[in-house]
Amino acid sequence: MTDKPLRAGIIGLGVGGAHARGYLRSPHTELVALCDSDPERLAARAAEYKIPPEQCFSDYRAMLSAAQLDVVSVCVPNALHVEVSLAALEAGAHVLCEKPLAISLEEALAMQRAAQNAQRRLMVAYNHRYRADVAWLRRAISEGALGEVYNVYAWWRREAGIPRSSWFSQKALSGGGALIDIGVHMLDLALWLLDFPRVETVSGQVGTHFGARGVKASSSPLWKGDLSAERFDVEDSAVGFLRCAGGLSVHLHASWAEHRAPREDILHLELNGTRATAVMHVVNYVQEGTLHFYTELGGQSVVITPDVRSSGIYGHEALIVESMAALVAGQPPPADVQHGVIGVQVVEALYRSSQTRREVVLE
Ligand SMILES: NC(=O)c1ccc[n+]([C@@H]2O[C@H](COP(=O)([O-])OP(=O)(O)OC[C@H]3O[C@@H](n4cnc5c(N)ncnc54)[C@H](O)[C@@H]3O)[C@@H](O)[C@H]2O)c1
Repeated sequence: MTDKPLRAGIIGLGVGGAHARGYLRSPHTELVALCDSDPERLAARAAEYKIPPEQCFSDYRAMLSAAQLDVVSVCVPNALHVEVSLAALEAGAHVLCEKPLAISLEEALAMQRAAQNAQRRLMVAYNHRYRADVAWLRRAISEGALGEVYNVYAWWRREAGIPRSSWFSQKALSGGGALIDIGVHMLDLALWLLDFPRVETVSGQVGTHFGARGVKASSSPLWKGDLSAERFDVEDSAVGFLRCAGGLSVHLHASWAEHRAPREDILHLELNGTRATAVMHVVNYVQEGTLHFYTELGGQSVVITPDVRSSGIYGHEALIVESMAALVAGQPPPADVQHGVIGVQVVEALYRSSQTRREVVLE
C-alpha cells in the first residue's frame, strides 16, 4: 500500500480516451503522459485532459523511458498488444491492456510469463463487467438464485456495425473480426459470471456476409473513414458452442452485421438454471430496464423484473477505479491476465474449428 498516486500513461487514444477518464476519476492515480502515433489525435486528447506537450509522445518507447510510469494502458490495434505490453512491463509498469489480450494464445502466454517475471500486474479491459445489470446477475448467481446453471446464451449482434477503420477489418492487424472484437466480451461475461468453469471443447462457424461487399458499415462517429471492401479479410459473423465442465453449455453469437431492426445493437445474456432463468437484453447500450427473471412461486410460473439502477459510473471508468484500488491494496485485480488468456484460447479454438470443420478439444 502506498499513499503516492500511481503515475498513469496511455498508449493509443481512441478508446484510450475512456481510460483517461478512468484515471482522472480514480483517487489512486494521476494521468501524466499520453502517446499516439497520430499527431492530431494526440494534440486533441492532450488539450482535453490538460497534459503538457513535454508529456505527450508519438513514440511509445520514448514515453516509457521518460515518464516513469507505474501503470500503462495499452489501447493500440490488437496485433500490437503483445509488443507494447511487453515493453511497458519491461519498463517496470503494471499494464491494463485492451481486449483481446492478444491475437494468438502463444502471444497471450508470453505476455502472462512476462508479467510474472517482472512481478507486475497485467490486466484486461473487460469493461462490460462493470454494468449494474451484470453486477446484479453475478450476485444473483452467487446467491444461488438460479440454482445450477446448465446453459448460457451470450450474444452481441448488430444490424449495421462494421467498424469503418482500416485495422479492424484486416486480419494481420486485428486477428479476426466480430468474434475477437465483440464476441470476446460476451464470452468473458458468460465465463466470469460462472467463475470460469473449465472449457472442454469448442466448435463454431464464422463467415463473411456483408463487409467484403462494403455494406452495413457502422454509422458511429468513432470512425472517420469508409468501409473498405478491398481490405476486408475477417469474419463479420461467428457462432460457437462450448462444452464446459459439469455439463454446462455456452452458445456464443457475435455479429457486426445482419438483417434485423434498423440500427439495432444488442447485448444478450440468458442463463438457464435449475431454479430460474435470468435474461439480460440490452438494446443500443441502455443501462437500465434490461433484466427479467423467470421462476416458479406457489406452483405458478412468475416473471420478476429487478429494478436495478445504474450508479452513473460504469464501463471503463468503473473498471479503472476498481482495478487501481485493487493494485494499491495489493489485491488481485478483477480482470487479471488469466481471464484474458482464456478468452484468446477459446477464440483461437473457435477459428480453428471453423477452418477444420471439427470440434476442438482444449487442453
Ligand atoms: N473494451 C472496449 O469496449 C473497447 C472498445 C473499443 C476498442 N477496444 C480495443 O482497444 C484497442 C484500440 O481500439 P480503438 O477502437 O481505440 O482503435 P483506434 O484505431 O480508434 O485507436 C487506436 C489508436 O492507436 C494509435 N496507434 C496505432 N499504432 C500505434 C503505435 N505504434 N504507437 C502509438 N499509437 C499507435 C492510432 O493512431 C490510434 O489513434 C483495440 O484493441 C480494441 O479491440 C476496446
